[in-house]
Amino acid sequence: MTLLRTLGIETSCDETAVAVLDADGRIESEAIASQASSHARYGGVVPELASREHLQALPWLMDRALAAAARPPELVAVTAGPGLVGALLVGVRYAAAFAWGRSLPLVAVDHLEAHLASPFLDSDGGPAASMPERVLALVASGGHSSWYLVDETGSRRLCRTRDDAAGESFDKVAQALGLPYPGGPVVDRIARTGDPGAVPLPRPRLADSRLDFSFSGLKSAAVRWIREHSLAAGGGVEPDRAVRDLLASFERAVVEQLLAPLDELVDEHRPLLLTASGGVAANTELRRRLQERADALGLGVRLPARRLTTDNAAMVARAGQLAHARGCWSDPRRLDARPREAWQPPGMRGLSTTGGGV
Ligand code: KG4
Ligand code: ZN
Repeated sequence: MTLLRTLGIETSCDETAVAVLDADGRIESEAIASQASSHARYGGVVPELASREHLQALPWLMDRALAAAARPPELVAVTAGPGLVGALLVGVRYAAAFAWGRSLPLVAVDHLEAHLASPFLDSDGGPAASMPERVLALVASGGHSSWYLVDETGSRRLCRTRDDAAGESFDKVAQALGLPYPGGPVVDRIARTGDPGAVPLPRPRLADSRLDFSFSGLKSAAVRWIREHSLAAGGGVEPDRAVRDLLASFERAVVEQLLAPLDELVDEHRPLLLTASGGVAANTELRRRLQERADALGLGVRLPARRLTTDNAAMVARAGQLAHARGCWSDPRRLDARPREAWQPPGMRGLSTTGGGV
């Protein structure tokens, strides 16, 4: 497979990110601007604000990432979906104009394919690892929680949450306690000092599916507990025992929900490797439990460096680099944002492997 030096652009949510990878998938340069503090006061991402901030940040991030790269890119990869439509459009039009202006090939990347590629990147500047044949991969973020079967030609979703995403449930429970957005990293830190067995929380199973899972009942039970026990944790003081126990119990329940289908998926698909990606894959308890389960199953596990779990452009560049080598490309005059998750670009998610511009 001939791989090209690739510029990646990511603007699907509240992170504006640009990165350049060399032909071996080494991260040569990265520039990222997080909008978390702009959205924090609203307790979640405000789409209009996100688009505006992407517009402001992209030009200087591009300059910075391109100046720090050893040589100019030969391919442009951009997240085209799923995500916020206005936010995606900023990245897509910027990438298309850049590719068109420099006569470079352009490839549209599915944001979830990008997360799936992230465990194979080296955060210390080494070449990207190649993917073994059958990878059982969890993507758990603020917008998605699904298990996939992946190989170098594409991926297939095996099961998913039916309601909230795991990251979203961390964010909502943190918000109910008065903790800042995004809640996941804060909950992770506080939960370390609590008792995960202290608060009884449900792990609901669905009546109509062996594998799909759900977070809304668990999240509502945690929020109810917070209200009934008048718990609060804002204001910069160290949270008291009751808050720490609730968060440790909640975190454990989320992790158990995410890992509930694992044994059955391993039995059915006989993977060679387990991976996890997406913002929630930064979670200490999830990383520990996944490693424990992989050891028990005799399987290898590959987790991205924490900074590559959340949205970043290196993973977009890597997914685009591999997709382009499989024959995928996009017409810069026609490429549009595809905000819905159902979108499957040609050659990805196990569809056709050659040709096809979007
Ligand atoms: O992948 P990501 O950056 O954006 C989406 O594509 O959604 O994921 C962000 C999500 C947020 O909900 C955030 O609270 C969660 O990932 N998150 C965590 C941790 N770090 C980020 N959740 C649990 N534990 C963490 N350490
Ligand atoms: Zn993401």
